[in-house]
Amino acid sequence: MSTMMKAIRLHAFGGPEVLHYEDAPKPELKAGEVLVRVHAAGVNPPDWYLRDGYKVLPPEWQPQVSFPVIPGTDISGVVVAVADDVKNFSVDDNVYSMVRFPGSLSGDSKAYAEYVTVPASEVALKPGNIDHIHAAGAPMSLLTAWQFMIGLGHNEPNPLQPHRHEPVPLEGKTVLVNGAAGGVGHFAVQLARWKGARVIAVASGKHEAFLHDLGADEVIDYTRTAPEDVVHDVDLVVDSVGGPATGRFLRTLRRGGALFPVFSLGFSGAEEAEKLGVTVSTTQVRSSGAQLAEIGRLLNDGTIRVAIDSEFPLADARKAHERAAQGHIQGKIVLTVA
Ligand SMILES: NC(=O)c1ccc[n+]([C@@H]2O[C@H](COP(=O)([O-])OP(=O)(O)OC[C@H]3O[C@@H](n4cnc5c(N)ncnc54)[C@H](OP(=O)(O)O)[C@@H]3O)[C@@H](O)[C@H]2O)c1
Repeated sequence: MSTMMKAIRLHAFGGPEVLHYEDAPKPELKAGEVLVRVHAAGVNPPDWYLRDGYKVLPPEWQPQVSFPVIPGTDISGVVVAVADDVKNFSVDDNVYSMVRFPGSLSGDSKAYAEYVTVPASEVALKPGNIDHIHAAGAPMSLLTAWQFMIGLGHNEPNPLQPHRHEPVPLEGKTVLVNGAAGGVGHFAVQLARWKGARVIAVASGKHEAFLHDLGADEVIDYTRTAPEDVVHDVDLVVDSVGGPATGRFLRTLRRGGALFPVFSLGFSGAEEAEKLGVTVSTTQVRSSGAQLAEIGRLLNDGTIRVAIDSEFPLADARKAHERAAQGHIQGKIVLTVA
């Protein structure tokens, strides 16, 4: 078998033009891992944060990256080799994974490639009723929504706040999801619905029918109406846009409610939150094969759907990143590999 494969590699930080489709050494299997022939790779914000040199992060948080580096974390594919000590996966298993995150911020996930090694603890069987493209769209976005809203699933320290992030009960509650049509947002809408919440989705107007179809009870077009001017007494806001503007959602919440900014950098409303009796909490998504196995049942029976914004062949990863830079993503961008 050849020791080389095709992959997308960066030799320097920059715009989409630094994504090169080229030959790279095939990864070598280590103890505890499986080797996966990748059929599709999902595209996520950390992929373009890495490509850009993590300009989005404060300098002290910017991971060290050594070139060349293969970006990407999310894959769906077929197991082609299994380390001797791995007992729960076999060659020919169809699997999906979010690979080595957040450990991989410095570029160790390497998903934009024909082959990737993955710790067996981060792998789950792909739901049989969805194809590799849809499965590759799920891991990071759906694990993020799940760990914020349903169950954290680990006891690792929270790098973003001193205390553990705790999801809140959703049944019979009103949940507002901001950025509702995006990767994390469209799963947050569906998880809230599945748990029996009333869902208010905030997105630009073109996503209205899409969001109703996913189960949103109400859709607010933020280009026409500022949600913080018209929404009151919400139990939970999941703000998948986040950033410095997330504090405006504090006044949409009832006393005792919670604001979960998925991108928490720049939030400065801690004092106001305390005055209003609102909990603000965030976390960083972590790889988990166990959670992907649990979530796989919901993907398999159609309770949770993966919406595909667009697909590009691996060789055109540059075009996929150009699409991402245009914003207004509806669901997931996916690279087709095999
Ligand atoms: N904490 C974590 O571990 C974690 C994990 C995953 C992601 N994240 C972060 O979460 C954020 C979202 O990730 P994603 O993958 O969901 O991104 P995405 O797929 O690009 O989705 C972003 C969505 O936000 C919408 N949007 C943009 N501006 C908006 C505004 N002002 N108001 C309302 N909606 C707006 C966009 O469409 P429209 O403008 O057309 O509505 C788009 O659908 C990123 O910053 C990412 O870094 C954090």
